[in-house]
Amino acid sequence: MTINRRNFLKLSGLTGITVAGTGSLQAYSFKNAHPTDRPRREHFNMCGYAAPKLDPVRIGFIGLGNRGPDAVARMRLIEGVDIRALCDIRPEKVNQVKKSLDNSVHRPEIYTGKEEEWKKLCERPDIDLVYIATPWSLHTPMAVYAMSQGKHVCTEVPAAKTLDECWQLVETSERTRKHCMILENCCYDFFELLTLSMSRQGLFGEIIHGEGAYIHDLFAGNFSKEKYYNMWRLKENFRNGNLYPTHGLGPVAQVMNINRGEKMEYLTSVSSNDFMMSARAKELAAKDDFYKPFADKSFRGNMNTTTIRTGRGYTIKLQHDVSSPNIYSRIYKISGTKGSSLKYPLPGRFAMGGENWLNQEEYQSLEKEYTPAIVKKMGEMAKKVGGHGGMDFMMDWRTIDCLRNGLPLDIDVYDAAAWSSIAPLSEWSVANHSNPIAVPDFTSGSWKTNQPVDILLKNAGNTGVVN
Ligand SMILES: NC(=O)c1ccc[n+]([C@@H]2O[C@H](COP(=O)([O-])OP(=O)(O)OC[C@H]3O[C@@H](n4cnc5c(N)ncnc54)[C@H](O)[C@@H]3O)[C@@H](O)[C@H]2O)c1
Repeated sequence: MTINRRNFLKLSGLTGITVAGTGSLQAYSFKNAHPTDRPRREHFNMCGYAAPKLDPVRIGFIGLGNRGPDAVARMRLIEGVDIRALCDIRPEKVNQVKKSLDNSVHRPEIYTGKEEEWKKLCERPDIDLVYIATPWSLHTPMAVYAMSQGKHVCTEVPAAKTLDECWQLVETSERTRKHCMILENCCYDFFELLTLSMSRQGLFGEIIHGEGAYIHDLFAGNFSKEKYYNMWRLKENFRNGNLYPTHGLGPVAQVMNINRGEKMEYLTSVSSNDFMMSARAKELAAKDDFYKPFADKSFRGNMNTTTIRTGRGYTIKLQHDVSSPNIYSRIYKISGTKGSSLKYPLPGRFAMGGENWLNQEEYQSLEKEYTPAIVKKMGEMAKKVGGHGGMDFMMDWRTIDCLRNGLPLDIDVYDAAAWSSIAPLSEWSVANHSNPIAVPDFTSGSWKTNQPVDILLKNAGNTGVVN
């Protein structure tokens, strides 16, 4: 069933104008809901879209804080990459990365010192791909501008913060026919790729349920004056919901073929109270004026749990907690009619047709049989290069290999929009007593015929590695 406004109201039981609020009846109007549908004028399908081959792939990087420099260091190892430009508002960051390329063939121009210098990088005619690793609020503005200047885009996660931004990405990518990839590196981790390969071979049967998470203790980092530029990450926590859904959702969505034969229909979301951040902000502000602007703010609940239902009736549970002393976990659970898998707590395990995990020997034999092509080809190299154990390198290598071979990217603008949309949708649901809200169909119906992601490296895999 397609959800439109009328049947969404029916589905959510909101045909009356009131629903129970905290302790009393709260006025509820659908007008307050996110506009999950949006009138579309025309649709050009970017899923499966093959742009002309590029060789070399000339890249400009924006954002060289914690994350960006590692991307530059990985990309310089990939054949056919030409690093043409580097941008960060902070001169010391950009100079440091430029220096790191001194003993390489790359001679990038630098852009720094002003809020909008990055626009000049996007405007250069000799750049094919803009790679964005800035604070979240800049991802969509930068991606939209870069595509409008004729550049493909890879943006860090999440690609967008609001539904409007999600639509801007989709509409701009379709209009310009430029790729807009969200850099969801967790789709390229070893266990996730193995699970995807096994699911394609039917080992889990029909998928019933998936779970993912981003549970990572960033408490100290978020309050640190140095860790994130201008305290952007702490400020994001003024929003309440699952602000960082894509690490958990991306690999589950690929197993379920979301946007490619299946779609997410609606979600509901609940947040715990904040038992950590507000107290810390007040404690720090009592000793240090720097923290005063944070002292009277309300912060997101420490743990958010969001559940999504898909058209075929699969369910997805996503969790998000970056502010309590929790064990790191992306959960990554898949369960189907024939078997299940679970990654966290490590090590990842499989159970086939029963309640018990396979033993190590059985696991290894599955691994031997179902390791996908990208891991066979690049897995060892990726482990040596590193970047979250190698997944970052596999992601970058695959992206460049696709661009050089004129192939569709594994992760397209509809994935960027749908996966990122969970943040604003969960915010809305949390603010509205966990009411359900429809997930927009960013593909304009093309999900019905879009083909699953290629995991066989068809017509690809000829990109090497350089020193
Ligand atoms: N996929 C992953 O595993 C992963 C891991 C870490 C971070 N990230 C993502 O990477 C992004 C960056 O995170 P980070 O930890 O590096 O943050 P950071 O604050 O260290 O880096 C952001 C950089 O952007 C620069 N910047 C800010 N405004 C700018 C502007 N107007 N023009 C040019 N540069 C500007 C800052 O100077 C800073 O160096 C975030 O989106 C984050 O979610 C992803």
